[in-house]
Amino acid sequence: MPLLTHPLARRALRPLAALVDQRVRSQTRATRTEIGALRTELDALKKQSTAVGMLLDRTGRGAHRMPSEGQISTLVAQVAEVSGSSHARRAVTSAFRTVVALEALGVGRMAGGTSNVCGKLATIPLLAPPASPDVLEIGTLYGLFATSLTRMLHREGIEARLTIVDPLIGSQLQPDAAREAADPTGTPVREDVVRANLALASAPANSNYRIQKGFSQDADVRKAVSDRRYGVVVVDGDHSREGVLADLQWVEEIVADGGVVVLDDYGDTAWPGVGEALDEHLASGGSRLELLGRVATSAFLRARPAVSR
Ligand SMILES: C[S@@+](CC[C@H](N)C(=O)[O-])C[C@H]1O[C@@H](n2cnc3c(N)ncnc32)[C@H](O)[C@@H]1O
Repeated sequence: MPLLTHPLARRALRPLAALVDQRVRSQTRATRTEIGALRTELDALKKQSTAVGMLLDRTGRGAHRMPSEGQISTLVAQVAEVSGSSHARRAVTSAFRTVVALEALGVGRMAGGTSNVCGKLATIPLLAPPASPDVLEIGTLYGLFATSLTRMLHREGIEARLTIVDPLIGSQLQPDAAREAADPTGTPVREDVVRANLALASAPANSNYRIQKGFSQDADVRKAVSDRRYGVVVVDGDHSREGVLADLQWVEEIVADGGVVVLDDYGDTAWPGVGEALDEHLASGGSRLELLGRVATSAFLRARPAVSR
């Protein structure tokens, strides 16, 4: 007979079995309480994630605004490298808050992923544009990026004077017609929309901006806005190779000495013509523009002093 099934052994082990039984029961009770608490926590998290999702996910916008810590760390490192500033994290954080706030309150959206948009907004002010507060944006869509940039420059003490060039004919134009699909926001690309957004950055009564409707390659458009030298130029209009080449040639003439030029979507595989155009432009020699580097999918350039005008 095995030892443990012997009646004497069973009797001797009875108190121990009772103790084990009691422990198991009390642990089961504790585990049940823990599971209950975890369920309550999960329900609370689900509620929070619904609210955060409504604020930050891509629905109705095209790109989500929920970057990972890894994405932000990479972005901060890139901003620091291109700008040489030790305030890159502060600038990226400030840019992110600005994007979320203005997209929540504004009309339409900003074009581009979170790293792309925050990279531009963080880096431009840190590059300390020259004395000229004039900013030119070629291709504005809803004007929300221009609005955000105005805010970001102000934080660095620069009161921007904004010039915008865009056809603003109701929808986004690109030479590749497939890109002209309806916008995920459903908002028309119109001047009144751009003005509504710019009003979020500056009171209309003391508005510091002008909007030139038309294509950046048009002689009339160029003439109208070539009356000054720009401290910052953002090239984000026609994304074809030919369109970007034409914009870069024009920018050479109108950017201030030491001015900052940003070429959006550089290195973005969705827009190969952008990269081809900049590489070709810089390789052709004689350019005033010096490539400082890339942040996310934007190239940053600084204008050397013009030899003669
Ligand atoms: C990518 S969106 C601009 C996005 C905006 N900069 C932003 O960050 O939210 C491109 C804009 O350029 C406009 N566009 C297209 N060709 C243009 C041209 N030749 N000159 C000026 N704007 C142009 C489009 O209609 C569109 O509004």
